[in-house]
Amino acid sequence: MLSNEADGSKKRKSLHGHWSSRMAFILAVTGSAVGLGNVWKFPYVAGENGGGAFVLVYLACVILVGMPVMMSEILIGRRGRRNPVATMKLLGEEEGSSKHWQIIGLAGVVAGIFILSYYSVIAGWTLAYVFKSATGAFAGSTAETVGAIFGSFVGNWQALAFCHTLFMALTIFVVARGVERGLEQAVRFMVPALLLMMVVLLGYSISSGSFSQGVDFMFSADFSKLTWDSVLAAMGQAFFTLSIGMGAIMAYGAYLPEETSITGASASVVVADTGIAMLAGLIIFPLVFANALDPAEGPGLVFQTLPLALGQMPAGAFFSTIFFVLLAFAAWTSAIGLMEPAVAWLVEHFNRTRAQAAVIVGLGIWALGFASVLSFNVLADFTFGKGTIFDNIDHLTSNIMLPLGGVLIAVFAGWVMCRNSTADELGGAGTSYKVWRFLTRFVAPIGILFVFLKAVGLLPDLS
Ligand code: TRP
Repeated sequence: MLSNEADGSKKRKSLHGHWSSRMAFILAVTGSAVGLGNVWKFPYVAGENGGGAFVLVYLACVILVGMPVMMSEILIGRRGRRNPVATMKLLGEEEGSSKHWQIIGLAGVVAGIFILSYYSVIAGWTLAYVFKSATGAFAGSTAETVGAIFGSFVGNWQALAFCHTLFMALTIFVVARGVERGLEQAVRFMVPALLLMMVVLLGYSISSGSFSQGVDFMFSADFSKLTWDSVLAAMGQAFFTLSIGMGAIMAYGAYLPEETSITGASASVVVADTGIAMLAGLIIFPLVFANALDPAEGPGLVFQTLPLALGQMPAGAFFSTIFFVLLAFAAWTSAIGLMEPAVAWLVEHFNRTRAQAAVIVGLGIWALGFASVLSFNVLADFTFGKGTIFDNIDHLTSNIMLPLGGVLIAVFAGWVMCRNSTADELGGAGTSYKVWRFLTRFVAPIGILFVFLKAVGLLPDLS
């Protein structure tokens, strides 16, 4: 029992330290949000789901569901000041409900572990592409040669295993160092640098790709082609890219200073994250069409379009190396966030040091990652449900676990927590609070469940 519980939440302190400033928090959450989800996943999932209509549904999900859920996670995290499992248990009891809300925290720990198991494999590809770029592998390349390089790389499971191992080692290293020394330093320059690099690439794509065709693909919506499965994919992508639905942002919120505006911080993160995803689409789709590639290519899309563009640019090897370094950095700062709930929980619940917890969780994730490593080669033909093992882990986590976690988080913040508690964290009961509360109580949970039930076919069509 903490002695300060009777005085409300205000004096609670996080065991893991606090962000040194408001900017540090925004950078850390942006660092977790901006990652492979924006540059690697958004373009290929949008491509597989036909572009335009998918993109609009995704944007609607980001604004109507993503933003309120992100605010809910931050406010819950800051109020509890513990790892997501303990925070949900504490607040569940404090708000007069039940300690069983901790199940949200536990589900998040599991989701983070599963996501990172494949995320690290893809992040490993970016590491390999740093070396390929630096050694000039893409100079003067054509769509065929770039495709062949990608194919022979992912076909080699030892190469993937090596890169996955390297990436997990880097992640364990930063997480072990702790909140301020590890996480903050890593994000401080990565997001601005990545943004700059992408603007340069956009310039290239405008001047030499089929830009208008790319824009058309991304924004002209044909809703008749949209299935409920793609709507679910769009919602899953919104959750994935914002890092919400699994307690990661809750864990980060626990380290947030009392005076920071949650609404302002969330808005900055959402704008930055969405902007970078749009930029990635605007870079990649024109290149896809200019080179007669297939937008529905799948997870290899970015790895087959960007090296092509970069290989043809002046000083291409140099820019290509920088680009993949930045992408690896972006993945790194996200990977840290994916591990944070599990690590914070181990530290608090099992009395481990941060370093021990990072190594234990990291090794588990590393081992699990082999299922995804092998999905691209040895077990590529072993498919069920949504495809390979990788496809299924991705679908289960992004499209099922994150949205369902989001429903529970919204219900908790909107219905279980009393008005006073949430208004207190969100800085009073003004208009923005009312909008948040309405979205959190009604739009987010009902919207998510509706899409979900539609996609699994449990709601019949009325027409
Ligand atoms: N948002 C990250 C990306 O777009 C991936 C991610 C999903 C994540 N959930 C997370 C990162 C939780 C950190 C924490 O690449």
